[in-house]
Amino acid sequence: MNLLPRPYHVPLATPFWSGKTFRAIVRCLLSGQVIVGPDLAELKSWITQELDVQDAILCGSGSLALELALRSCDVKSGDEVVVPAFCCTSIISPILAVGAYPLLADVGDDLNLTAATVEPALSKKTRAIIVPHLFGNPAEIDSIIDLTRGRDIQVIDDAAQALGASLDGGKLGTFGDAGILSFGNEKVCSGLGGGVFVPRHQEVLERGAEFALAAADFSAALRRLSSTLIWHRWRRWSVPLHEALSDSAATDPQSLPAQYRKESMSNLNAAVASSLMKSLQDNLAARRLRVRAYQGLLGNERLILVPHRAGSACLTQVIRIIPKYPGHDPASDLIASLRGAGFEVQGSYMPIHLLAPYRQLAVRSFPRAEKMWMNLIELPCEPDVTLEHVEQIASVVKQTIRCS
Ligand SMILES: Cc1ncc(COP(=O)(O)O)c(C=O)c1O
Repeated sequence: MNLLPRPYHVPLATPFWSGKTFRAIVRCLLSGQVIVGPDLAELKSWITQELDVQDAILCGSGSLALELALRSCDVKSGDEVVVPAFCCTSIISPILAVGAYPLLADVGDDLNLTAATVEPALSKKTRAIIVPHLFGNPAEIDSIIDLTRGRDIQVIDDAAQALGASLDGGKLGTFGDAGILSFGNEKVCSGLGGGVFVPRHQEVLERGAEFALAAADFSAALRRLSSTLIWHRWRRWSVPLHEALSDSAATDPQSLPAQYRKESMSNLNAAVASSLMKSLQDNLAARRLRVRAYQGLLGNERLILVPHRAGSACLTQVIRIIPKYPGHDPASDLIASLRGAGFEVQGSYMPIHLLAPYRQLAVRSFPRAEKMWMNLIELPCEPDVTLEHVEQIASVVKQTIRCS
């Protein structure tokens, strides 16, 4: 057992927090404004300004925001909701919570839903389509909205991974009938958690305002603060130490997402999120610069960079490695090499229908998601990752691909 673990140069998705964020936390703790306080109104005003919308409803998580969006769009028991087969599983629980059935659709080459992949999934029972913008990259939500014209189908713009991104001049989160944002882990603005429901019509807003959420829980807010500090903000040291002591820090990809709490956002979470909104433009500019750097350094016939469209929030840069022969798994070799070199990277999502708890959703095959997922790796783009790190990562990638 190694008791002196080497810290990561670049741990996975470290939240981009400044002194302002830590000062906001201390202020809330010392003033006793952990659950209610003025930061909730301040965050709401940052969001409505950033998205240029009339109203936004703050809540405990992006998952709860999705549930509110579905309920406000009148999605009920027995309805079908189309979602991508390639996505995080957090989008499934809100659909089940309203009694509806998640119907999977394949993704396009950019790993997002497209009108062509959504169309075969639509039926008379389809009541909504959730369109996430994975890795910050805008999906073709306009053409998906066009597909629903004349049908009683609501489109939910899931910008959980794409805060600050835009498409043809419109901010993501403001397309379709309702939108959502998240301040959870591994997001553009990773805070202490929290979600935002963005209603797009008066009717949807009125229905959303009807759902009375429980007040945030004091001890849960403090637990979330300590776990975010230990496992995310100070991950550089905590994960290597945990790995040294327990032999593994891996989480089981087959496990169900943790149940989300059905409560309002706490003032503490809003204070952290507001501090992150203040640096949003610097955050986005830094991420876009890192994506351009990867694009300049990487790419050949065996290594494809999944492109980011104009306006992307560039959450991560996904690369796809083409195996040399069936059964060849160069992505696992590369993840191990990068981790060995101090860069904690991960593969991307396993398609939802291939995960044990969701096998019953495999009503048809999803060729693109099934073909691509095993060969994907997410490279880090956080502002704390220096351009020197990007060069080192690119050099490990090139060398490993050459040898594997
Ligand atoms: C696309 C997408 N939608 C919704 C969510 C749910 O957000 P939260 O983690 O804040 O519940 C996530 C979380 O990872 C997500 O990636």
